[in-house]
Amino acid sequence: QRILLVNGPNLNLLGTREPEVYGHHTLADIETLVGETAAELGLEVRSVQSNHEGVLIDAIHAARDDCAGVVINPGAFTHTSIALRDALLAVELPVVEVHLSNVHRREPFRHHSYVSDIAEVVVVGAGIDGYAFGVRQLGRVLA
Ligand code: DQA
Repeated sequence: QRILLVNGPNLNLLGTREPEVYGHHTLADIETLVGETAAELGLEVRSVQSNHEGVLIDAIHAARDDCAGVVINPGAFTHTSIALRDALLAVELPVVEVHLSNVHRREPFRHHSYVSDIAEVVVVGAGIDGYAFGVRQLGRVLA
């Protein structure tokens, strides 16, 4: 089985972007961690990061054919994108939502997510470890 790892806008800048909020790990570190964690569970990973909403939506649509579930950090689209939510609903794949930071401890506009109520599991505030946990949780859902 394969899973889709989706990282949204500005996450390509991890490592240098607001390190006091997001830490010093890079997107490459996350992709390595997710790949290793998934491999332990016998899962393959397809990874996409984009700053463009439509590219993320297209990747989610494509996953319908050959992925069993989605681990997604939608970045700021979390708080804005009904289209991303609709794409996740359309493909009917189990979703695990991950945020590096504890969005609930931050600005009020980060407290609402268009994804959380359609996600199996939501992980916030655990840094990149949240991705490893999220993959394990997706593995549990898929088992
Ligand atoms: C984030 C939180 C979002 O509010 C923010 O826009 C991001 C990153 C996180 O991982 O903590 O880009 O999704």
